[in-house]
Amino acid sequence: MRIFITGGAGCLGSNLAERYLEVGHDVLVLDNFATGHRGSLPDHHPRLSVVEGSVTNRPLVDRLFAEFKPSHVVHSAAAYKDPDDWLEDARTNIEGTIHVVEAAKAADIKRFVNFHTALGYGRPASVPIPVDAPARPFTSYGISKQAGETYLAMSGLPFVSLRLANVTGPRLAIGPIPTFYTRLKAGKGCFCSRTIRDFIDMDDFFSVMDLALAEGAPTGLFNVSTGTGHSIKDIFDIVVDHLGVTLSEPVPEVEPGADDVPAVVLDPAATMAAFDWQPRYGFEQTIRRMLAWYDVNGVTAIYSHLKAPPAVASIQT
Ligand SMILES: NC(=O)c1ccc[n+]([C@@H]2O[C@H](COP(=O)([O-])OP(=O)(O)OC[C@H]3O[C@@H](n4cnc5c(N)ncnc54)[C@H](O)[C@@H]3O)[C@@H](O)[C@H]2O)c1
Repeated sequence: MRIFITGGAGCLGSNLAERYLEVGHDVLVLDNFATGHRGSLPDHHPRLSVVEGSVTNRPLVDRLFAEFKPSHVVHSAAAYKDPDDWLEDARTNIEGTIHVVEAAKAADIKRFVNFHTALGYGRPASVPIPVDAPARPFTSYGISKQAGETYLAMSGLPFVSLRLANVTGPRLAIGPIPTFYTRLKAGKGCFCSRTIRDFIDMDDFFSVMDLALAEGAPTGLFNVSTGTGHSIKDIFDIVVDHLGVTLSEPVPEVEPGADDVPAVVLDPAATMAAFDWQPRYGFEQTIRRMLAWYDVNGVTAIYSHLKAPPAVASIQT
């Protein structure tokens, strides 16, 4: 396959790039390094090209399609860094997505995989959230990602849009796991928002990606999750146990911020049925595999698209 990964220097993009190179595919990455890092990708690899630039640059996107001639597109680029920078979110997540979708249409690609956030569902009436629950985004990131996905769905392309639970794996730098790990290791205090989230291991994300890229696979919108929710405090307790920290007092638990959602758990039933897919790793194993990775590699920069500081440690990417 010739796989064009937008945002390929980010957490998911770089993990996918690494995996696709390993199995022999050609990979082109376009990334503006807003939240991704060049160092997350191999320095030199005969089947990898890395272009620094933005999906908002239409001539560049068109040129890369013309030169690389991708058979598959994985659209992973997304802006979320500053929740008040609506224009940047709209430019990257809507306009940029339109550029990539239109270029893909003109290029006769085999498959287009997009990643969407559970924030598209907004504040769900109940959890787990089925994939046909109404879209009610209420943040700049959620609104712009929802719009991008909607344009893709209108495009007529053979597409899969994966609405992702919190994927944990190498280079994860967002959310409570790296935040608790970093702060507790440095002897700093933490607090937990009273929220429920779902987590999925990178290997389980890989297995659904393999199925999503396969020829003749189903198209459309799919939730990717284990379907089980866990509190942020559950994560905190595992990190405390992993680091062997003794707490002098119980960790404070705070109500979720105004731009946060109390419970987000995606219902993967339709995805499991359509792709005959099952996640392999349970919650605790997933968190502990992540912590073991930090033990070896450390934690890089921590971003959040929530207005609350990272120390609040509530997540949703
Ligand atoms: N990681 C998760 O658990 C999760 C959950 C839900 C949705 N998603 C979606 O998956 C995708 C990847 O997320 P991630 O966790 O890897 O985040 P990330 O920030 O690590 O990756 C996003 C990448 O896009 C790049 N980028 C931003 N604006 C760009 C632009 N204008 N042009 C080109 N590149 C640009 C960034 O530099 C970064 O490398 C995003 O679309 C995100 O919305 C991820």
